[in-house]
Amino acid sequence: MENRVQHQIGVGSVNLSPKSKQYLQQVIDSNRLSYGPFSRRFETTFAQAHHSKYAIFVNSGTSALQIAVAALKEADRWNDTDEIIVPALTFVASSNVIIQNNLLPVFVDVHPQYYNIDAAKIEAAITPKTKAIMVVHLFGQPAEMDKIMTIAQKYHLRVIEDSCETMFAAFKGKSVGSFGDISCFSTYACHIICTGVGGLAVTSDADLAVMLRSLANHGRDAIYLSIDDDKTDDLEKLNLVMNHRFKFIRMGYSYRATEMEAALGLAQLEEIDENIARRRKYAAELTKNLQRWKDYLQLPAIMPGAEHSFMMFPLVVKPPINRDTLTFFLEKNNIETREMLPLTNQPYNQKLFGADLEQQFPVAKHINENGFYIGCHPAITPEELSYVISKFAEFFSEHRN
Ligand SMILES: Cc1ncc(COP(=O)(O)O)c(C=O)c1O
Repeated sequence: MENRVQHQIGVGSVNLSPKSKQYLQQVIDSNRLSYGPFSRRFETTFAQAHHSKYAIFVNSGTSALQIAVAALKEADRWNDTDEIIVPALTFVASSNVIIQNNLLPVFVDVHPQYYNIDAAKIEAAITPKTKAIMVVHLFGQPAEMDKIMTIAQKYHLRVIEDSCETMFAAFKGKSVGSFGDISCFSTYACHIICTGVGGLAVTSDADLAVMLRSLANHGRDAIYLSIDDDKTDDLEKLNLVMNHRFKFIRMGYSYRATEMEAALGLAQLEEIDENIARRRKYAAELTKNLQRWKDYLQLPAIMPGAEHSFMMFPLVVKPPINRDTLTFFLEKNNIETREMLPLTNQPYNQKLFGADLEQQFPVAKHINENGFYIGCHPAITPEELSYVISKFAEFFSEHRN
């Protein structure tokens, strides 16, 4: 491979298979774009794959999280300013949706090797106002769910899994998405399944499932949540639906996705094994080859009992290596990088929670300053992977001291 590749080796990629294109064409030919057969199949198959009963397909992972918090707030009658525990290192949406629901995020520092919420630090953050723990499974790896569920049970807390970055991974044999009361996934670009935009809220609680679908549909009465719900030969039922189909029983949102996204999602779901196998293979290869520089780079570690789906390949530099010098070098060489989800140093969070917010969570601060990730997705070719490794070698030969 050339000294500098012509196209960027991205953190994610869209790589639509013939099956994705075929399903998309079927949607276009069917003239049915709103919630229909592809959405239903995608939801059912996705829920089953994550050992759960119901999935509600919406237009983003953030929308899924937003209605998850809203549904639990309504079901349990939480008050404004009640608290939800959330990791101090995550994508901004995790804590934004808490604030947007008039609740308070209470941050807890993360584990220095695995990057997910540090279960040992959760109890100290619980107050009489704590109602839930939002765990986030970052980069493809589940959080330490056995300890987290024990704490949740002890303090009668709800659990929301922000699994936007992690699908098809289990902790001690149990799938992500099946621990919490509601779990949320994203199918945005760069995610394990990519539908352009999209997200799923998953639950095994029938009442919460109805509430979630209503919240995503403007708060409609559950009798009419799809345009199929008034297609019936039963005249009594038709009359009932007609009387209720324009009734809104809560204030909801317009978060629906379309059949086009569902078609792309279903096709990728049916081909998921190859996708995940490729991610794990690439991650193993990167880990093996970057091991030589382990004095300068903290490589991803898999927590005992966890599976890792490697949505991304996270790295934390060690002194004397400067993160920004390394990422600039990689980007110059057409290898895309991203910072590892800094949250506590965001200007608006410091305005809301104080200028010293970042100082309160030293592990997250260290990762904010030294962490970044590169892509680990199936569209990368073996030659491109070798190129990435060769660029790390070039950098360390020049910058080691
Ligand atoms: C941890 C986490 N939560 C939530 C989201 C939001 O998902 P979306 O972009 O689909 O709204 C993301 C997206 O990247 C994420 O990484």
